[in-house]
Amino acid sequence: MDEIEKKVNVARAALEFIAPGTALGIGTGSTVNCLIDLLPGVRDRIERIVSSSRATTRLLEDHGFDVMTLNEAGDIDVYIDGADEATKRLHLIKGGGGALTREKVLAGAARRFVCIIDDSKLVGMLGSFPLPVEVIPMAQQFVMRKFLKMRAQPVWREGFVTDNGNHIVDVHDLQIGNPVEFEQRLTQIPGVVTVGIFAQRPADVLLIASDDGVRELRV
Ligand code: 5RP
Repeated sequence: MDEIEKKVNVARAALEFIAPGTALGIGTGSTVNCLIDLLPGVRDRIERIVSSSRATTRLLEDHGFDVMTLNEAGDIDVYIDGADEATKRLHLIKGGGGALTREKVLAGAARRFVCIIDDSKLVGMLGSFPLPVEVIPMAQQFVMRKFLKMRAQPVWREGFVTDNGNHIVDVHDLQIGNPVEFEQRLTQIPGVVTVGIFAQRPADVLLIASDDGVRELRV
């Protein structure tokens, strides 16, 4: 089974978490794009819909959805999003698409966070995927120096500007043994807006697509 088939399968499995009357948050990325294509089929169950990026908003609007801001919608029932890496404890690395800040806000505002991945994203320890960190532009070099002091390799995602007008630094060569503590520590660096570790608020449900079908993990 190829990667796209797995993404479609896991997106289809996520539909069962959308109950009638749901206030729904939608993440960003190619896996979520498969879900967006399926959403018109459950339109009558969606009461409100909120998006984590301009790219997702555009796609939802193309499918005829009226996208609300989080300020308008209030808390959301279910947030569905992909990830770049996930562990069995449902800790994640996110932000490969650069939408990590709004994604973290929606995950925080959601009663339930359903993460959808294919089995290539399941890892024993986070950190092989370069950790995205959103920084305010004037602090970029300062934050990069902080990572160099930790013997990590920060790389500026040159030419990329987030939906919030900020920069992304991708940090290579990390082995994140304690994601909760590391997320907290990095978040305290001045100039860091958001770290792409989702451990303090992990997923509640992890759906993993493989050749054998879609399995579900919860903590
Ligand atoms: C975007 C993200 C995505 O969820 C993550 O990059 C996974 O994307 P894809 O489904 O394309 O592999 O965090 O900021």
